[in-house]
Amino acid sequence: MCGKDYLRSGYYKSLEKYMLRAKRVVKDIVPPILTLRGIEQEASAPINIALIKYWGKRDEELRLPNNSSISLSFKNLRSRVSLRAILDGTRGEHKIFLNGRKVSVFSNFYQRLASFLELFDIPNFFEIHISSDVPIAAGLASSSAGFASIVLALNDIYDMKLNRRQLAILSRIGSGSATRSLHDGFVMWPRGEEEDGSDSYGVALNYRLPQLRLAILLLDRGKKMISSTLGMSRAMENQKVYKIWLEESSADFHRLCFALQSGDLWGVCKIAQDNSNRMHALMRSCVPPINFNSMNTVRALEQIARIRSDGVEVFYTQDAGSNLKLLYHERDHDCLVREFRNLMLCEIE
Ligand code: PMV
Repeated sequence: MCGKDYLRSGYYKSLEKYMLRAKRVVKDIVPPILTLRGIEQEASAPINIALIKYWGKRDEELRLPNNSSISLSFKNLRSRVSLRAILDGTRGEHKIFLNGRKVSVFSNFYQRLASFLELFDIPNFFEIHISSDVPIAAGLASSSAGFASIVLALNDIYDMKLNRRQLAILSRIGSGSATRSLHDGFVMWPRGEEEDGSDSYGVALNYRLPQLRLAILLLDRGKKMISSTLGMSRAMENQKVYKIWLEESSADFHRLCFALQSGDLWGVCKIAQDNSNRMHALMRSCVPPINFNSMNTVRALEQIARIRSDGVEVFYTQDAGSNLKLLYHERDHDCLVREFRNLMLCEIE
């Protein structure tokens, strides 16, 4: 048993059944007949970092969030995808490469991507190369940008002519926060109310904070220990504290919108840091607790506290991994580069 036969068996088959509603949503968006426009297509999408975190799903299958989130996309840090149609007709499976290394058909990543492609009912198999400017699976949002790139590449290779809203909905079904990687700058992803998720997708916010800098503080390159999916479901089991998280995150969301509107750089940094701390406090209060910090995170947080007590305003945000992202004023950039040798500078304007 190989290729599509394998994919149609066991695990995959149950996934296929489970994904029926997602399939319906995708079917309503993509054209009924897909014909290749060429045999190769490349696309890329920016890495986005959440300032207000999406944490918990109201619908697992359609990847609809329990709370609205806001992110900031990098201009110069991206994930890239190249699709090449396999036309020899012999092998009934996709070939997937992550940063040049072939991904096993049995791996979770392969299954996840193949089942996503299956939703489109595409008539071809592809050799798919995915690469990223940041370490993959280290909690640095590379896979979100990867899924957004795949949607963009499919749109082009089949000449689907989809609009940003449709692309953002498809990306969300691939990997929740991917919906925010369709735009540069600040992006809002509303929770939405509709069951089919038609009102829940990434929308560009036209605010600019030219002096704000966002940089990745690369502390650990390794694969993160706990997936966001697992973290989110553990958080939701922690019902009482999760309810408080939802209320606070909604208040943070509105506070951040206001700070963005008023061009309040320090307000934006502080609200983002508070929101991140709330998410990690929620995780530490789960049973059993989840702590995303590594020793390097603990040391970096101490270093940040020291730098702040020396008078340099620097803030951080942390996702489902041990790496940190720093938020600061451009005037402090040189000082922070001296402090942290592993700072990846990111252009956001
Ligand atoms: O989209 P996912 O499943 O990678 O979840 C993203 C979760 C966080 O990065 C922690 C928060 C966010 O909004 O990006």
